[in-house]
Amino acid sequence: MAVQRKLRMGMVGGGPGAFIGPVHRIAAELDGKIELVAGAFSQSPERSRAAGEMYKLDPARAYADYKAMIEAEKKRSDAIDFVAIVTPNHLHMPVAVAALEAGFPVMSDKPATATYAEAVDLEKAVAKSGLPYGLTHTYAGYSMVREMRHMVASGKLGKVRKIAVEYLQGWLSNPIETSGQKQASWRSDPAQSGAGGCIGDIGTHAFHLTEYVTGLKVVGVNASLLSVVPGRKLDDDCTALLRMDNGAQSVLMTSQIAAGERNDMRLRVYGEKGSLEWHQEDPNRLSVKWLDGPEEIRHAAAGYLSDDARAVTRLPGGHPEGYLEAFAVLYREFSDALIAWQDSHTASLPSTLPSIEAGVRGMRFIDRAVESSKKQSWVEF
Ligand SMILES: NC(=O)c1ccc[n+]([C@@H]2O[C@H](COP(=O)([O-])OP(=O)(O)OC[C@H]3O[C@@H](n4cnc5c(N)ncnc54)[C@H](O)[C@@H]3O)[C@@H](O)[C@H]2O)c1
Repeated sequence: MAVQRKLRMGMVGGGPGAFIGPVHRIAAELDGKIELVAGAFSQSPERSRAAGEMYKLDPARAYADYKAMIEAEKKRSDAIDFVAIVTPNHLHMPVAVAALEAGFPVMSDKPATATYAEAVDLEKAVAKSGLPYGLTHTYAGYSMVREMRHMVASGKLGKVRKIAVEYLQGWLSNPIETSGQKQASWRSDPAQSGAGGCIGDIGTHAFHLTEYVTGLKVVGVNASLLSVVPGRKLDDDCTALLRMDNGAQSVLMTSQIAAGERNDMRLRVYGEKGSLEWHQEDPNRLSVKWLDGPEEIRHAAAGYLSDDARAVTRLPGGHPEGYLEAFAVLYREFSDALIAWQDSHTASLPSTLPSIEAGVRGMRFIDRAVESSKKQSWVEF
């Protein structure tokens, strides 16, 4: 059997001081299937060059901007195999469309675009290209999230009746965007972030996790979005009721002014026969409570877990895996799909990997939540 070469990744964003770009690089390379070889890492050509040095790339492949990267890479015999997008939100759509039109598959960070209308257009561009497009809703890569998903789908809990999802952070408790904090500055600027602040930044993760784990779809939203910090242009706190397509009700609470919280994401799913609770700050454990039985704590990598959960752990039990590994799971699934596409030219992503469909729903969620909050009433999804 021929040895499969590493897939070559070109990254847009992820320059010096960036948060998620370096995470993508580590995660993409973790399983030895992908290698970062090129990038347009910053809006500043000098900083893009500096990032190329930081990532130890051929200086000729640290480009001044993404258009230059796409043009130059198209002509190379060792061209990139796909583009990873890790810029602020407003660039996701133009970069993705430029990459797809040039024939490059895309792995994008969330939210898929800056607006719902853009997401609908991007979905058409993905369909027209016939290329793989993945979306890094990181929490979908955790083993215990896969276990929850499996348990709901297997019917062990009975019909899902109630969902509570929380995603609380405290790092925007003060107006740090006014003193130039990099990550806060663009997140609180509607031109770069889109219509949603907190609801777009982390509310979309909570929304995605709700649908991903339960297999249910949101059909109605009643949201209250607030800008708690005076002068902030976008919401920094959100509470929403969601109606699911099986009649269940969900509560989604997300905040970036929850002082003292770091990355407190928690999901509880209640079925007729029992319930599940997972906390991302303690990700290797899953609590399962039965109506008529004792509470269980399930541990990642244990032999009794579902195949779905065990397939995405790399280490024996008791050796904690977390954020980087979850990201790497998504990259592994993407790279497998990409290799299959290179062989057969038909793009089909595994259902476990968030796709453009999840991206469009995430953007619809922001759009509906903003609308509902303005109207102070329920809106249909
Ligand atoms: N999946 C997750 O868990 C997760 C976590 C954090 C951030 N994100 C998403 O990742 C994206 C980036 O967030 P971040 O926190 O890393 O932001 P950041 O500000 O730390 O990094 C953004 C990078 O993009 C670069 N950039 C800006 N304009 C550019 C351009 N025109 N061309 C090339 N590069 C450009 C900046 O120079 C910077 O290096 C956002 O869309 C965010 O929603 C996802």
